[in-house]
Amino acid sequence: MSKKNAGILGLGIGLPERVLTNKELEKVVATSDEWISGRTGIKERRIAADGETTLTLSEKAAREAMENSGISAAELDLIIVATVTPDMIFPATACLLQDSLKAESAAAFDLEAGCSGFVYGLTLAAQFIENGAYRNVLVIGAEVLSRITDWEDRNTCVLFGDGAGAAVMGTVEEKGFWGFELGSDGSGGDFLKMPAGGGAKPASRNTVEEKLHYIKMDGNQVFKFAVKAMARSAKKVAEKSNIAIEDIDLFIPHQANIRIIESAAKRLKIPPEKVFMNLEYYGNTSAASIPIALYEAWKEGRVKKSDRILMVGFGAGLSWGSVIIEWIG
Ligand code: UT7
Repeated sequence: MSKKNAGILGLGIGLPERVLTNKELEKVVATSDEWISGRTGIKERRIAADGETTLTLSEKAAREAMENSGISAAELDLIIVATVTPDMIFPATACLLQDSLKAESAAAFDLEAGCSGFVYGLTLAAQFIENGAYRNVLVIGAEVLSRITDWEDRNTCVLFGDGAGAAVMGTVEEKGFWGFELGSDGSGGDFLKMPAGGGAKPASRNTVEEKLHYIKMDGNQVFKFAVKAMARSAKKVAEKSNIAIEDIDLFIPHQANIRIIESAAKRLKIPPEKVFMNLEYYGNTSAASIPIALYEAWKEGRVKKSDRILMVGFGAGLSWGSVIIEWIG
């Protein structure tokens, strides 16, 4: 069987309407707009309303991506939802989505690779498509991080937001997926985690009282890891894909912190005009951040046919991942 080409056929997003500004956060915890913008670049984030969940945001993003790609639900072979905030631990949110979309021929599963989840998902989709097993795969990064945020912890609550981004990947003529590089270092798992609610520490009165169902993060450790991992992974994917970093048209990094992005771009010698950022408006939306950024870059006309786009994610695990795609227009 000859190898097929995989490419992105269409994109969509699902964002809550509610905007929570830094100024509003000043009333919630001991922080300031100046501190948050200066240290992170974030000005505001979206917060899911009652009833809005990873599933509902995913569905919104998926329907737009399907419309933009001209692929119907019946034509989907696989649905992957990358998330750390699934509607329930099980069944998979991807299965709930399969039902809402009536994607009757689709297999479905959730993928948990923290903020690297969407890059992992695109890579998996590309493997299924390139080996001819599947024709169309829906990949989603979606989160409602506000639901696992401790709104009394200023170290974390100013950073995160909610949202979803979706891509339909399918079989294409040209080469739309140039390469990937994925990795993990579980020895750093403690630096970013939600300690309870799994099999090791099931929910109990104690876990709730001790606030163990919220995000716990050692920001400095994650920061140091992120800068190194992003630059290293981006270099590796460029090498594996036989593409020089200077031939990359747009760099879309995980939107966690402007200082992490700027120092990774500097290490990679990527000029600011080739770096896409929208974290100012959404904060860190984990698995959703790269697909939302890719969507906005496309909507703003920052990606043109044949452009090579480098996307790099990093986060809980610790994990990281990079892909280079060519925009097939
Ligand atoms: O998706 C992957 C997930 N996470 C990340 O990528 C996060 C990576 N880390 C970071 O982005 C940064 O480490 C942070 C933004 C989390 C923190 O920035 P920092 O420059 O590393 O600050 P810091 O943790 O060293 O804290 C500096 C000071 C501390 O006060 P003292 O001890 O110097 O008096 C903090 O208590 O800033 C204080 N601080 C705050 N002040 C006002 C921490 N959070 C806040 C806050 N408002 N929200």
